[in-house]
This record gives sequence, structure tokens and C-alpha cells, in this order.
Amino acid sequence: MCGIVGYLGEGNVYDILIKGLHRLEYRGYDSAGVALVSPSGNINVFKAKGKVANLESFCQSKDLSARAGIAHTRWATHGEPSDVNAHPHFSEDGNIAIVHNGTIENYKLLKDVLEKHGCSFHSETDTEVLAQLIEYIRVTNKCSLLDAVREALKQVVGAYAIAVVAKDDPDTIIAARQSSPLAIGIGENGSYFLASDASPFVEYTNECVYLKDGEIAEIRRGVPLKITNLNNEESTVDVTTLQLSISQLEKGGYPHFMLKEIFEQPSTLRDCIRGRVVADGDRININGVNDNKEKFRNAKRIVIVACGTSWHAGLIGKYLLQDMCKVPVVVEYASEFRYSNPIINADDVVIAISQSGETADTLAAIQIAKEAGAFVFGISNVVGSSIPRETYAGCYIHVGPEIGVASTKAFTGQVMVLTLLALAIAQIRGTLSDEEIAKVGKCILKLPDYVEQVLKLSPQIERLSLIYTYARNFLYLGRGYSYPVALEGALKLKEISYIHAEGYPAAEMKHGPIALIDQEMPTVIIAPQDHLYEKIVSNVQQVKARGGSILAIVTEGDSVIANLADHVLEVPDVPECLSPIITSVPLQLLSYYIAINKGKDVDMPRNLAKSVTVE
Ligand code: G6P
Repeated sequence: MCGIVGYLGEGNVYDILIKGLHRLEYRGYDSAGVALVSPSGNINVFKAKGKVANLESFCQSKDLSARAGIAHTRWATHGEPSDVNAHPHFSEDGNIAIVHNGTIENYKLLKDVLEKHGCSFHSETDTEVLAQLIEYIRVTNKCSLLDAVREALKQVVGAYAIAVVAKDDPDTIIAARQSSPLAIGIGENGSYFLASDASPFVEYTNECVYLKDGEIAEIRRGVPLKITNLNNEESTVDVTTLQLSISQLEKGGYPHFMLKEIFEQPSTLRDCIRGRVVADGDRININGVNDNKEKFRNAKRIVIVACGTSWHAGLIGKYLLQDMCKVPVVVEYASEFRYSNPIINADDVVIAISQSGETADTLAAIQIAKEAGAFVFGISNVVGSSIPRETYAGCYIHVGPEIGVASTKAFTGQVMVLTLLALAIAQIRGTLSDEEIAKVGKCILKLPDYVEQVLKLSPQIERLSLIYTYARNFLYLGRGYSYPVALEGALKLKEISYIHAEGYPAAEMKHGPIALIDQEMPTVIIAPQDHLYEKIVSNVQQVKARGGSILAIVTEGDSVIANLADHVLEVPDVPECLSPIITSVPLQLLSYYIAINKGKDVDMPRNLAKSVTVE
């Protein structure tokens, strides 16, 4: 949710900032801007509504010389997407400029006070209030930029990652974070980079410092990085070595990141499994579980908190954990959980799932669970992100950077980790026999090959997508493990093609959605050969009897549904608990091709952002 970039050094400031913004565009893309601190000591601010490419066109004839700069790509919270609401914002006297990711909750109060002191505002944003506040303090107290930022932040309630530059201090960037991520790259010859994640600077340095909540960084050209907190106490600078590579951040010959990420799934699943399914599939080894055996053995209940696609993975986790570990599981939207007076006990295990590791609601849910004394375990993709740092133990999904806004490989990675987790906990609790664990373990080792096989359906799905592209509504149905797959399939279609799609438990269809069925509304039915197969065949018949068209995902060799459905996509036969990974892949491809047929921007769908760092 909003991406920020900063740079101070001998390189081409504008080029580095723009390239960085492109890398962060997955975080928001309704407007973008740069503030360049020019060699003559001016701050030139250029902003444009729309994607970063619009900003580049706008900047073509401008003076772009700079010794330092900050930049922003926006996902609007306060004020519509427009040139004037785009960041950077500056103080009325034009002396300082700021970029911000987050929300200042008490901005109205601060604005009223500043207006009484004679400040006037040009945008509708909370960020401009912060810019004016910092400058007001700097002028009134005759203090340094650093001290002014610190004093201003003491008055702020909300979430922020900010970067601030000042005209009269051209070799300095002040950065701070509270609940929104910020990484600092330490470059050569005293240069520094700054960004919402490390991707904008990975090609320049692998030395990275992740700022912690409440910290302020003083980034000065040629001077060692200094980090303090709001009380001006100095913190240690923890330098992490980045493991990212540039190739992971590029499309690698695919037209879109989403397609690349769908096709990466065999290898991302291999990475996810590596070292965790051991002894030829006989045993499961998850460090975060092994190190906390007692917590998992004694857990009376597991509570899963997540948002979006991660919540769908959590629903599959419920089936897995209840089946294998015989422990009650509840799955909550983190945004609802946090405001529902949740009853959490010390013998609950809370599992937070988040691709980005930065989702604000999930972080808040973790905090509540920790305060209630529960053991909190994180499942995340982004190494060094907030959720792995805030949880007591956890497990990375290791699928590499996911850039397409619609989550694909992260979803299958999350489901894979939840499957491994359920097996590992079952080992500890003794709820599955060694033979049962080995049977699934051995199949998990083959799963990436099965996914490769499913990807071969791509040309068939591309052809089928032409038939379905012009439907205005879709229904997705599944039962048991396939019910969350139906929800996720519908979400993928909505997100990138803007077609209304509803996921439903197949048996519930007769309590409402059945009224919608006609020839105009296709129903996608996820119907692998599992213990509910006979039941879902009845549901297929119910749709058929009402003239609905059916696209079914079935196990290879299925002739019963093949005779009823208009179209079928056959997937390999796997144990029921592994079926969600296999059946979700064709649905990802279906959404992708439908969106492409409709001419949509699948990697950057309207209004969405990949990392939701605001409530
Ligand atoms: C946004 C993204 C989704 C994601 C959700 C939760 O809505 O567009 O793809 O599932 O946030 O994000 P998280 O990073 O916590 O998994």
C-alpha cells in the first residue's frame, strides 16, 4: 500500500528513483511523484496521476539533476487519486518535502491547529499535514530536520513510513517507521537507498537495514547510518544480507508477472518443500514446530487469522488441521477478529498467514493474540517483514517475490506449508500413524510434478476462456477442501477481470444462488474424486437441471461429470488433502486468460494493492 523510494549518492538520482518506483508499483499505482534535491539547493517536485509511466512522460522535459531524492507511488487513502494529492507533499514555504506510506489518524486535529497558526493546505491528504507540522516545528523551534521530525512524530497517531528531505540540508534524508515497512540499503562510497522493501536497491547493494517500529534513521551522505527512537535513544544498526536476485524481480520472458508466477509453481513448491519432507517422505521437519513441540502438543484450539487470499489458504488449513491433528480450528478475517472482542486463551495457538508479512489488520490481530498470552506462529513469504518479526515462531513459504497483485504462487505455497504444518503437528500429537504420514509425505514429493502436468492444460484453458469471457456473473462451487478453492477461484476472477463471481459451498447453493442460475451464468464446479464426490455429482445435476452451463475441474478419467458438464478440465489424482493445490492452478489460468481477453491489466488491477498496510 503505497511504495516509497529514496536515494542519496553519486548515481543518477532520478533514474534510480523511477526504476525503484516501478519495482514497488505492486503496492499502489494511482499516482506517482518525485522530489529531487538539486545541486543548487532547490527541491523540484514532479507528480502525475496514474502509473509511474505517466510520471516519466511528465518529467521528460524537466530539469532532473539531483544529488538526492525521494519518490512515491500511491494507493489513495485520504483524497482521490489526482496530481495534487500525489506525493511528495511539501511545506508551504517549499523548504521540505515528504513521502509517506500509512495513515495519520489524528490528521484533522493537527490540521485544525496548524490552520490556526496560519498554515493553508492544498491537498486533501493526511501527509501534507505532516509536512506542514514538521516545518512548523523546525521554524518555531529553530531545530534540525531530525529533531523536527522526531517532535512531529510524537504528536502523530497512526501508521507511517516516511522519508523527508530539506532544501537547506541537501545531503540528508530523514526516515522513520511505525507499522509500515521501510528498508535502508547501504551502498558504496557513502551512498544510501531507502524503500518500502529491498527490491528497488537489490542491484546496487545486498546490505540492508530493516527499520523497526518507532525508529528514526538519519541518512547522511558519507556518514555512518544513525538510528534513534522518539526519545532520542540510539539503537544498534542491524545489517541483513539480502538473498534476493534481480531475475526474481523480472518477467523472465512472460508477458505478465502473474503468468510467470503461475508457471513458477512447480519450482516454488519444490523450494517450499525442500528440507521439510525428509527420510524419503516418511517424516516432516518444520523447525518452528520442532522448537515449540509443547505448545503444539498442548494446544486446545488453533485460531487462524489472515486477509484476502491468505484467508482462503487459512480455510484450507482448517480442514487440514482438523483432519490430521484432531484439534478444533477457527479461521478469522484479521480485520473482523481485531474488533470482535476475541476470546483467546493461553493454550490457543494463533497462526497468522500473510504473503507480504505487512498486512496491517493481521499485524493488529497478532498483537491482540500476544497480549492474551497465546503462542503466535507466522506463515509468511517476505523474509525480514514485520509478521515474522512479531511472531514467536514461524515458517516461510519460500516462493520468491510475488509481484502480480493477484496472488497465485503464494497461495499454493501457503497451502503447502499448512499441509506440512498439519502433518508435523500430527506427528507430535500422535494423531496420524507413521504410515499415514509417509503416504502423504511421499505424495508431497511428487506434487510439483503433478502441478507441471496441470500447467499443460494452459492451451486448453486459453481456448475455453474465449467461451466464458463475456459472462457477467460466475458461480464457483466446491465442497470440503474444494470449498475454499471455489472462493479463491472466484476471487481471482473478480480481482483481474472485474467480472462478478461468487464462491459458495456447493450444498448451500440451493439456499440462494440457485435462483441465479440460467444459461447466462456459468458455474465452475471443483469436483475431484474425494469423499464428497457423490454429493457434488448431485450438485452438478441440480445446476444442469436448471439449464446452467458448467465448467468442472475433475480427476482424470472421470466420466460421470464429463457427461454432465459442458466442459471439463482433468487434473491428476492426488490424496484429498493435496487436492486444493492441484485444483486451484487451472482456476488461476482461467482468470488470467479471461482478463487478458478483456484487455485488462492483470498485474495491476484497478483499485487493488498487493500489500495492505492500512486498516
Ligand atoms: C491484498 C492482496 C491479496 C492478499 C491480501 C492479504 O488484498 O491484493 O493478494 O491476499 O492483501 O495480503 P497478505 O500479504 O497478508 O497475504
